Amino acid sequence: MATQNVSEEQLQSQFTYIDAVARLLGDKHPKAYTHTFGCQQNEADTERIRGMLSEMGYEMTDTPDEADFILFNTCAVREHAEDRAFGNVGALRHLKKERAGIVIAMCGCMAQQEKNVEKIKKSYPQVNLLFGTHALWRFPSLLYRVLTEKKRVFDIGGEDDIAEGLPVLRAKGAKAWLSIMYGCNNFCTYCIVPYVRGRERSRRPEEIEKELRELVAAGYKEITLLGQNVNSYGKDLGIDVDFADLLRRLNAVPGDFWLRFMTSHPKDASPKLFSAMAECDKVAKQLHLPFQSGSDEILHRMNRRYTAEHYKSLIADARSKMPDITLSSDIIVGFPGETDEDFEQTLKLVQDTRFDLLFTFLYSPRTGTPAASYEDNATPQDKQRRFERLLKAQDEIVAEKQAAYQGKKLRLLVDGNAKGPEYPFTARTEGNLLVCVRGDDIKIGEFIEAEIEKTSLRCLFAHKL
Ligand code: 5AD
Ligand code: SF4
Repeated sequence: MATQNVSEEQLQSQFTYIDAVARLLGDKHPKAYTHTFGCQQNEADTERIRGMLSEMGYEMTDTPDEADFILFNTCAVREHAEDRAFGNVGALRHLKKERAGIVIAMCGCMAQQEKNVEKIKKSYPQVNLLFGTHALWRFPSLLYRVLTEKKRVFDIGGEDDIAEGLPVLRAKGAKAWLSIMYGCNNFCTYCIVPYVRGRERSRRPEEIEKELRELVAAGYKEITLLGQNVNSYGKDLGIDVDFADLLRRLNAVPGDFWLRFMTSHPKDASPKLFSAMAECDKVAKQLHLPFQSGSDEILHRMNRRYTAEHYKSLIADARSKMPDITLSSDIIVGFPGETDEDFEQTLKLVQDTRFDLLFTFLYSPRTGTPAASYEDNATPQDKQRRFERLLKAQDEIVAEKQAAYQGKKLRLLVDGNAKGPEYPFTARTEGNLLVCVRGDDIKIGEFIEAEIEKTSLRCLFAHKL
């Protein structure tokens, strides 16, 4: 069945609640604080909630102590993220004692899970509002209930649909997120995402293009298209469009900007996509393509549905079409049953491919996923040892790759303030490498030409030309 949008009437009723909350708050100008855990999708969701809060009359603050409304947008991908969210919420008990009127809310992937809802109901009485990923667009009516009924509100219901036209308050600067699809159908056996974010659903290409045009008009220079698996974009739309087609359409939008996208799945990434990337001048030559493990046996048990050989052939095709492409990947170390031999194959793939950036994770069992009940023989020490070998091998590769940038002249996008006085700004290369820059008349949000004058493991250093 084709993806449904939340109906116009349902959305309109939320705008009515935004007005109703605004009337309740009157001219108090209350303050709202938000904290986001996890991925870019969560950051994009938080920007929607901030948009709604701002329309209600809340002012944003970076200080939870002075906030009247506090929100934690949570992540469930690994246990560590969950522990941090619980820790943060736990620490707010005193605030609630001092100022009984504040509203503490939790949303996101953790909030979508029944077991966490029970835990919060029982052990975190300071939380007065909890809503899951599917209920995000109903936030105004939920907050209205909290404020008027003076009781705790929990909502983890909802359909796999899409809400277009919600307000948004984006971070200022050079970069913006643009969600093109939600959910995931892949059910990798370690991953909780399909359970908390529902099935894949794509936004209509014309809606995405409209939003991109608005972002470009607002001055954003780097727009990242978001989805759990962007390569299956469009499959649910019932029209003849795939991700490569979408890239070409968006590339035709006038303006000087870079388009990035994440995340890609190797089973769906195709030569067609790499051709589109190579031919589209605004699409940054950068690819995040998680391979997770170099062992076919482990890949099979992860339900990834590709082999290491296939992965290598994709990289070879991408590099043949875009020789300067920068590549990054995600790896899970210590998946249940991973042997030293399996791990050696992961290490070999890393050494053969020579990624520019790696995100390496220790496997974290997630209740409700198949892998959580797989037998696991490796000890935590074995896993830690593998993890460290991987980091060391990757650092050696990165050191060589970074050194090769010495003296190069590159186009950079200035995106923030750096810490040190010598190089006051941060910037990104087209390949998304971090650069610290110095020079006259540098402004955040502008492209500059620069020359790399020295390099370190994590940063390139440049002066503006
Ligand atoms: N344990 C460790 N890492 C995980 N990831 C997803 N689920 C888990 C898990 N249970 C990693 C994958 C994914 C990235 C976003 O997080 O590498 O690509
Ligand atoms: Fe999780 Fe796999 Fe979906 Fe990525 S593709 S969100 S790892 S299930």
